[in-house]
Amino acid sequence: MFISFEGTEGVGKTTLITQLYEHFLQQGLDVVLTREPGGTPLAEQIRGLLLSVEHQEPISNDTELLLMYAARAQHLQNFILPALSAGKVVLCDRFIDASFAYQCAGRGLSRDKLQMLNQHFVSHRPEITFWLDAPIELGMARARARGELDRFEQEKMEFFARVRAGYAEIHQQEPERMKRLDASQNAAQVFAQALSQLALARS
Ligand code: TMP
Repeated sequence: MFISFEGTEGVGKTTLITQLYEHFLQQGLDVVLTREPGGTPLAEQIRGLLLSVEHQEPISNDTELLLMYAARAQHLQNFILPALSAGKVVLCDRFIDASFAYQCAGRGLSRDKLQMLNQHFVSHRPEITFWLDAPIELGMARARARGELDRFEQEKMEFFARVRAGYAEIHQQEPERMKRLDASQNAAQVFAQALSQLALARS
């Protein structure tokens, strides 16, 4: 099983993924935890480039998209696909929906570009995606409290409002796959929501 986790900054993805990881381990499942951009040594290096605020020139929107997909191609080939083939449950912090939400809805890149990349470079998609949804202000306050902001976290509120709307659009189009969780609730409540959605998906 391949499960991804999505949402704007500071909505509590890491907390939920860790709780689910422990939960699956306790159930005796072979489960692995990974993230995008990143998840392999090379993809983590690309992540470093993408999140760094220290560049001698601005990263163009197209470059950003292609770096995301370079990291994704590496991650899929060298980590996700082998893990799925070995029968593992893969929990992935962000996947292709983040590219739609951030690069298309957020940055304004065309959906055709994304579709082309997905068609050629993404052979496997999550069966379930948890979208942790909370008001932008709430998430950004949490992100700021964590310390220094990365290149994305430094974006304006309007950018995150577009990203959130992008996720809402995917949710509307694919409600079966993308489960919305109310991330304004506390961690225990969000975890309970995820477990009940999982139970529903399995029944
Ligand atoms: P993180 O903060 O969840 O670790 O993710 C790193 C940043 O990368 C986050 O601000 C969202 C961004 N991102 C994209 O813009 N497009 C993508 O396809 C992915 C996977 C992440």
